[in-house]
Amino acid sequence: MNWQKSLKNKVKNKEALKKHTSFKIGGPARYFYIPDDYSDLSLVIRLTKKHKVRILIIGWGSNILVSDKGVDALVVKLGSPFFKKIDFQGKRVEAGSGCGVNQLIRECARRGLSGTQFLAGIPGSIGGALVMNAGLPKENISDLVESVTVMDYNGKIKILPRSKIKFAYRNSDLSRYIILKAILKLTRQDKAQIKKDICKNMQHRKRTQDLAHPSAGCIFKNPGNESAGRLIDLCGLKGRKIGGAVISDIHANFIINKINAKAQDVSRLISLIKRRVQAEFNIRLEPEIKIWK
Ligand code: EPU
Repeated sequence: MNWQKSLKNKVKNKEALKKHTSFKIGGPARYFYIPDDYSDLSLVIRLTKKHKVRILIIGWGSNILVSDKGVDALVVKLGSPFFKKIDFQGKRVEAGSGCGVNQLIRECARRGLSGTQFLAGIPGSIGGALVMNAGLPKENISDLVESVTVMDYNGKIKILPRSKIKFAYRNSDLSRYIILKAILKLTRQDKAQIKKDICKNMQHRKRTQDLAHPSAGCIFKNPGNESAGRLIDLCGLKGRKIGGAVISDIHANFIINKINAKAQDVSRLISLIKRRVQAEFNIRLEPEIKIWK
C-alpha cells in the first residue's frame, strides 16, 4: 500500500498488542507504528486520514483492554526517545507524553521538586495519565497542569492552557487530541520529605494492590466517595475466576491476568461485577479502563 511506503516501510503488520499492554492481553493491530518525532507523527496522521485508516494511540498500554480479535486500525505508539524527553525550567517540568510517570517522579525528587509524589506507583505514561486524569481519590494530575501541547487529527500542533482543558474524575477532553507534552507546575521541598511521601504511597500500593500479576490497575471508577473495590469485595467476589482472569484477592477492583487470560474472560468478569454491584447496592459501576474492539 502506498501510504505505508511513504512511512519508509516502518509500519509493522499484525503486531500482537498483548506485547504493549500491562494486562498482557490483546490480539493484533492490523498496522503498528512508532513515530520518530512530531513531523513523523503528523505525516502518519495525515496519511491515515487521507486513506481512511482508523488510528489509535497507545502509550504504555496500562489502562486498556484490547479485544482478542485485535483492532482493524493503525496503532501508533509514542515510544521513541523523542517523546520521552523531560526538561526542567525552574519549578516547572516539561514532560513528553511517552515518558513514564514513575521516571518523572524520580527526576522531580532528585531536584527537590514536589507535586508528583501522589502518582507514585501508577504504571503508565504521562500522556495516558493526562488523558484519563490519573490520581488518587482526592488528587489528580490535572492539579499540576499549566498547559498541554497536543496534535489534532489534522496533524496540527496546538498549545492548550489549563483553562481550555476540561478535566473530570478519571476523564478529560484531551482524548480528542494526541498528547505530545505537558508543562507541570511544582514546588520546592526538602528532598528527604519528597522521598518519604513517595515511599508511603508505594508502600500503600504494595500492601493493598496486586502488583505481581499483569493487570490494568483499577477496572472501575469509584462511584462518588465510595470505593468500587470495597463494594465488589462486599459482594463476595474476590477470587472469582473466569478462564485465566481472576478478581484479585488483594484488591477487588483489580482483575488480574493469572494464566493466559483472554479479553473475553476479563469482559465477562466486568459484566458479572456490574450486575452484582447493581443488584446489591443499586450502584452502576463505570469502567475506568478503555476497551478497544
Ligand atoms: N477496600 C476493601 N476491599 C477491597 C479494596 C478496598 O474493603 O478489595 C477498602 C479499603 O480497605 C479502604 C477503601 O476500600 O478502606 C479504599 O481502598 P484504597 O485505599 O485501595 O482506595 P480505592 O478507592 O479502592 C483508589 C484508586 C487507586 C489508587 C488508590 C490509592 C480509583 C478508582 N482507585 O482506590 O487507583 O491506587 O485509591 O489509595 O480511583 C487506578 O486508578 O488504577 C488505581 C488503582
